[in-house]
Amino acid sequence: MCGIVGYVGAKQAAPVLLDGLSKLEYRGYDSAGIAVSDFKNNINIVRSKGKLCILSEKTEGGKKLEGVCGIGHTRWATHGEPSENNAHPHYNDDRTIVAVHNGIIENYAELKGKLIRQGYGFYSQTDTEVATKLVDYYYKKHNDPIRAIANFVLRVRGSYALAVLFKDFPNQIFAVRKDSPMVIGIAGGETFIASDVPAILKYTNKVYYVGNTEIAHLEKGKVTFYNLDKEPINKEVAEITWDAQSAEKDGFEHFMLKEMYEQPKVVKDTVNGLLVDGKIDFISAGLSDEELKNFNQITVAACGSAYHAGVVLQYVTEELARIPVRVELSSEFRYRNPVADKNCLVIVISQSGETADSLAALREAKKLGMKTLAIVNVLGSSIAREADCVLYTKAGPEIAVATTKAYSSQLIAAYALALKLATVKNTITGERYLSLIKELSSLPEKIEIILNGKESIQHFASEAANKKNVFFIGRGVDYAVGIEGSLKLKEISYIHSEAYAAGELKHGPISLIEDGTLVIGVLMQDRLLEKTLSNLVETKSRGAFIAAVTCENNEKAAEVADITINVPKTEGLFAASLAVIPLQLFAYYLSVLKGNDVDKPRNLAKSVTVE
Ligand code: AGP
Repeated sequence: MCGIVGYVGAKQAAPVLLDGLSKLEYRGYDSAGIAVSDFKNNINIVRSKGKLCILSEKTEGGKKLEGVCGIGHTRWATHGEPSENNAHPHYNDDRTIVAVHNGIIENYAELKGKLIRQGYGFYSQTDTEVATKLVDYYYKKHNDPIRAIANFVLRVRGSYALAVLFKDFPNQIFAVRKDSPMVIGIAGGETFIASDVPAILKYTNKVYYVGNTEIAHLEKGKVTFYNLDKEPINKEVAEITWDAQSAEKDGFEHFMLKEMYEQPKVVKDTVNGLLVDGKIDFISAGLSDEELKNFNQITVAACGSAYHAGVVLQYVTEELARIPVRVELSSEFRYRNPVADKNCLVIVISQSGETADSLAALREAKKLGMKTLAIVNVLGSSIAREADCVLYTKAGPEIAVATTKAYSSQLIAAYALALKLATVKNTITGERYLSLIKELSSLPEKIEIILNGKESIQHFASEAANKKNVFFIGRGVDYAVGIEGSLKLKEISYIHSEAYAAGELKHGPISLIEDGTLVIGVLMQDRLLEKTLSNLVETKSRGAFIAAVTCENNEKAAEVADITINVPKTEGLFAASLAVIPLQLFAYYLSVLKGNDVDKPRNLAKSVTVE
């Protein structure tokens, strides 16, 4: 997704903008640009296709652009191919209004036609140029930047995080957002704007979270907020608790590797954050025991890995709390005209809290009058702020596009919810509850053990480097972790992969098995071991190479598998937390072997804030 930054203060703006954009590279982009107001009050713009280093070279690290106020952008192409001409910032004809934008203006074609009829010309294929010239149109009409932006808001449909420079208002930035993320930072005599906290955390941990259609006026060390009637809005400053170091690699080669190694601590922090006097507590999430007891069904809406965590939540909650759990892809739920039920808890799982489909699913559930719980990692994100209740995972900033630690913390939240529901519904004994809580607390150490044995996974990855297709199979929770392992492999190694419920292979997919096909069986469920083993044998007899992820000393698995990847023994319901670790490492090492951009895989973005 695109990233925007802005700065006004005492420093030269350009280097600050380039530094901020470098912290947003993980969002995925294909071109970049910055605009800075110079001391003669001209707005100078430099844009480039490709990586940020090209823009930095063009501007000599920003030295070529003098001035203390500016905006910047990394573009993930939606309208118009990646090119310098389509790169932001975009501008009006006399460069007196310059803007950067993250999001999609859905009615841009209609607006472009209107502006052409008003005599406007266009140099690019982007919706952002249309947005910029629409602001220009209203500014010429009202001669007031706030009113110009308010009229823009009333006229456009879609999503936007928009930051605008007006030549008539030197050393000031005007901004507005709807559905696309935006955070404003303030420190001493400086003010910052960005799509995400890592871009400004080096300078300040004091931020404002901007609400939908709130207009911000940034000056040196001062921010004023207005509603669409140009009435001032009072907003509280929030304090970011994690430090800039957390958003750095700390000596690891990639953010993804660093974040994998943070998983023991993240799991421990998430478990401890949910335990009060040894008992699971959801009061802090805004859900009382009485409310939880009254839910007789759950619907989960999520995307990607968050959806996969929802599948684990389904198996674990149905097993422990004996209530039906439905897991939906947010992009489907939002358009499926779902059936409302006041006794249904709708859970939206999202690391970023900004995924457009999941935000829309949340709004659909609320419109239907259903109680909503967000399981989110990013403090103050849109989904977190709009849900009725919020359970924050304690993963800290996750920079790599491929999620690992946030997924692991989502699993803990899932287990905790299942245990809480089972307790209030009295569907498990106190003894079973205590045993499961004890096992939950043992997971961080077991994850550590797996990570310490990474060399065996690295060796396994080197042997699989030329595979064209990889299959993951499992039953129950093992299937749920197989779909996550398959996604990890696809998104960072670019190797095609499928995950199937093991019993499903014989209904068609087994026709794909041929000599040397790699089949990875997840075998963590004692009760289902024999069944999955027989499915693995079916593929082996057709030439497959079998790898088994299973607990130590599983002799039956060792008889069938060509290679066994051992993980410590754990409760079958919590198996995903352990079995996923070697699958993450497998995908990581294959991506490195193939020379891919591990942290910023092609075509992907960390937070999909467009449909
Ligand atoms: C996971 O590795 C991917 N980056 C992607 O599937 C991601 O899980 C999905 O886009 C959902 O993102 P969210 O958790 O921020 O909503």
